[in-house]
Amino acid sequence: MHPSLSEMTSNSSNASLKTDKIAILDCGAQYTKVIDRRIRELNVATEIFPVEVTAEKLKNGFSGIIVSGGPNSVYEPNAPQCQSEIFDLGLPVLGICYGMQLINLQFGGTVQAGTTKEYGETDIQLQTESPLFTGVDKETPVLMSHGDRVETVAEGFKVIGTSNSIIAAMADDIRKVYGVQFHPEVELTRQGIQMLSNFLFNVCNLTGNFALEDRLETAVQEIQTQVGDQNVFVLVSGGVDSTVTAALLLKALKPDQVFAVHVDSGFMRHNESNLVCDALKALGLKHLRRIDAEDTFLNATTNFDGNTVGPLNAITDPEHKRRIIGDVFFHLVNDAMAHADLDLSQAFLAQGTLRPDLIESGNRSISATAHKIKTHHNDVPLIQEKREQGRIVEPNRDWHKDEVRKVGALLGLPAELVDRQPFPGPGLAIRLLCATESYCPPDFSELNQAVKNYVENHGFTATLLPIRSVGVQGDARSYSYAVAIATNLNAWDDSVRKTAQQLAREIPNKFHTINRVVLTLNRQELPENITSITPTHLTPDATQKLRHTDNIVTEAFRKAGLHQDISQLLTVLIPIDTQNKGGHSLVLRGVITSDFMTARPMFPDLEVPLPFLRNLATELSQSPGIDLVMIDLTGKPPATVEWE
Ligand code: XMP
Repeated sequence: MHPSLSEMTSNSSNASLKTDKIAILDCGAQYTKVIDRRIRELNVATEIFPVEVTAEKLKNGFSGIIVSGGPNSVYEPNAPQCQSEIFDLGLPVLGICYGMQLINLQFGGTVQAGTTKEYGETDIQLQTESPLFTGVDKETPVLMSHGDRVETVAEGFKVIGTSNSIIAAMADDIRKVYGVQFHPEVELTRQGIQMLSNFLFNVCNLTGNFALEDRLETAVQEIQTQVGDQNVFVLVSGGVDSTVTAALLLKALKPDQVFAVHVDSGFMRHNESNLVCDALKALGLKHLRRIDAEDTFLNATTNFDGNTVGPLNAITDPEHKRRIIGDVFFHLVNDAMAHADLDLSQAFLAQGTLRPDLIESGNRSISATAHKIKTHHNDVPLIQEKREQGRIVEPNRDWHKDEVRKVGALLGLPAELVDRQPFPGPGLAIRLLCATESYCPPDFSELNQAVKNYVENHGFTATLLPIRSVGVQGDARSYSYAVAIATNLNAWDDSVRKTAQQLAREIPNKFHTINRVVLTLNRQELPENITSITPTHLTPDATQKLRHTDNIVTEAFRKAGLHQDISQLLTVLIPIDTQNKGGHSLVLRGVITSDFMTARPMFPDLEVPLPFLRNLATELSQSPGIDLVMIDLTGKPPATVEWE
């Protein structure tokens, strides 16, 4: 076996005691890999270890340690702990979120268990004389996502940042140990890169000599070593990830060894499969097969925790949808391999899996403790089993989306392929919210009233929607309410926009069972209560309704030239009809991000003019069976990009 990148860098690092390499101790955060990527982006090598790694292992070859965030509370019985000896190594340490609390506790400070939870952007005040904050503004927006907080800092530490009267950053300049309660690694922390680069270059005194080109070469060599002269199958959706995978396979292997399959699951966008197949042929693929499999998907069932779930067109649970879709993809690929007369015991399966996909699936190879946010369609148990046999080729597994784009460009792929917006494997199936009955648990009316009261003073009205959407709050998956807000859009100006932004940030922080805030575009007022839904499943009719309206949205943005400013634009069909006529409502969801781990929402008047959105909403509401048209104003976190 070709040595892995981490083995290569570890071996070389053993040669000298001091090297440009950072050890990341993983406490199970969704963002551990983002920390890793950011550090690599700053051209510093990294290696991820479970938090309980021994000091012995870190003794040689590292110039600094970062302790990640995590979903636990430091006081939980099985909460991740570091070996205290690692702090005696004399290496600079940066603790992030849970990592800061853990360090503070281990150095003798105190941590207060979660009374004030914060999930979202907050402005913090910093002491910019600290080497960690050189060049950073005294007040700057950051992402906070925590329940517990540092109460008093340990002896030898001083407070170097505060937010809403909580301790947001601490430092011991003598021992070079730092802690931040917020997440400098994510994009929502605007000056986070500056802070990380301060840690690497001011505190750890690194130089930064680890480049993406070398990692591309390593990926090519790894494919050659893993696949040898066998055949490899690659499932191509047409998105940038699978296209780059196919291009890497073509660079590493002979064209005869690469067999590509495109599956039209029935959940593709308008005309998408045709476009994809044309683009792939242009890439020089010799063996390309297209499988039209809508019926197979709709009628499929699977085994979930020992029970049969499905068929797909009769279920509502997002995780069940994902599992069935992932399993059907796997079976179709196996069939296609057999069809191509390949030896199944020898052939390899290549996928465009990215690092965040594996982290969000709670994959054990990445993180022993990360909470499962969703089952990625290419990390279902059937795939995991094949991965254990060493038969899954995932050349992008070490990269995030924006790195994959850069690799694609380095490989000479055309810009229209490399810059394509991502489209998820399960496609429209995770943009069509299914339900058989309304979601109105006992707290529904009380919460509905509480949110109404809260927004009333701000010139808005609010109505809780009796549905559940997926979100990510405090490193854990949430499956909870969305709230619709409305106001007189004729009076919309900068100050109303700012209020809407404030409400979208504050509501999920104040009401923890709400993970999304949507603004109604085609109505100035909402009903007092919405308690019924339109029973909805993944049927061809519902999918066609979404495909049709999604195409109207995509075309309108494209024609107006607004498409390229938005990292991912999607339309979601939800089972709400306030007229009770068996129709649905639509949510426009746009996000601005480069790594998709965190994202800022597309906002009226910031990324897209409100009059454009209102005209589009009017056009959409003329489509048969469409009631409300809304825009999702929520960041990730607390929401996710998809609604599921
Ligand atoms: P979320 O909804 O988790 O999505 O914020 C982050 C990014 O991942 C995409 N996504 C997927 N892509 N297979 C994919 O290939 C999947 O199962 C899947 N689920 C989400 C999503 O579209 C967004 O770009």
